[in-house]
Amino acid sequence: MCPTPASQPAMFLSTKVGLTVNGARHELRLDPRTTLLDCLREHLALAGTKKGCDHGQCGACTVHLDGRRVNACLVLAATLDGREVTTVEGLARDGQLHPVQAAFLEQDAYQCGYCTAGQIMSAAALLSEPCGETDADIREAMSGNLCRCGAYQNILAAVRQARRGIA
Ligand code: FES
Ligand code: FES
Repeated sequence: MCPTPASQPAMFLSTKVGLTVNGARHELRLDPRTTLLDCLREHLALAGTKKGCDHGQCGACTVHLDGRRVNACLVLAATLDGREVTTVEGLARDGQLHPVQAAFLEQDAYQCGYCTAGQIMSAAALLSEPCGETDADIREAMSGNLCRCGAYQNILAAVRQARRGIA
């Protein structure tokens, strides 16, 4: 008689991956289905990156992969061997806030804060992207990051301020 799935021994698959996260090298053994988001939060205790939809629709999990923004919930960690990840925990340098973090504070762009890490990571990446000058350009470039409490106007002001600061 064929064994029922419940009676089959659990099969444990794991894969090795070497990642640099916020400048620190990590050698990990992961279930190959582990997303970068779960790897950061569950395996590296970096809970600053938030899980909103877990389906690539809200932007709460935005991090930088080799300097470009990605939704961490859509990326499998096992595919990232040798790559560099930056999370919101790694944005400040030498005790100095990143210009986007400082601008978010000054423009009161935090409300509940759930989307904030993702907004900041998107805005920080945007500074080196070919984004146009207008508010509409910024809104378009930030449109993958949803904020349900309506801080958009302040977020826009913060992005404008950060862009002026580096211009
Ligand atoms: S949690 Fe990744 S896009 Fe929503
Ligand atoms: S501040 Fe973004 S969801 Fe509330």
